[in-house]
Amino acid sequence: MAIREILRMGNPILLKEAEKVEKFDTPEIHELIKDMIETMKDAEGAGLAAPQVGESIQLVVFGVDKNERYPEAEKVPFTVLINPIITPLTQDKEDDWEGCLSVPGMRGVVPRFKVINYKGFDQYGNEIDRDVEGFHARVVQHECDHLFGILYPTRIENMKLFGFHDEIFVE
Ligand code: NI
Repeated sequence: MAIREILRMGNPILLKEAEKVEKFDTPEIHELIKDMIETMKDAEGAGLAAPQVGESIQLVVFGVDKNERYPEAEKVPFTVLINPIITPLTQDKEDDWEGCLSVPGMRGVVPRFKVINYKGFDQYGNEIDRDVEGFHARVVQHECDHLFGILYPTRIENMKLFGFHDEIFVE
């Protein structure tokens, strides 16, 4: 296991569409997932997408137990999600603050669908099919955006609601 370097906004790998995973349950994928989990925990992130560690494949990990970066957030089950497909279940969106390990120190308000279905596979090729809402839905939409070369700042509608965490959330 190893903590990997997290690429930052500006790196071209973060702007590419990631390739679908063709083979599940391989030593390579297990190794990458272990590294991603270790890297995410080390950085206290709620999720991490493979392109953020330089692997342009459709794989994300996410999960929130108790996270200091999101003290108000509800729990999200720890999940490895491969080749995901997201379908909004209603057209309702809600605004909330987001951050990203590839955009360190910054926060922005991003509209996301409130209720979604997501489908995909775990690392063994087992199907995942969940209807979720709220923070869980937000995390999945944020992480899966990484697989299509989208970073959250490009989804911010009001740029006045974008800035450095320490300036915005003053005690
Ligand atoms: Ni991110």
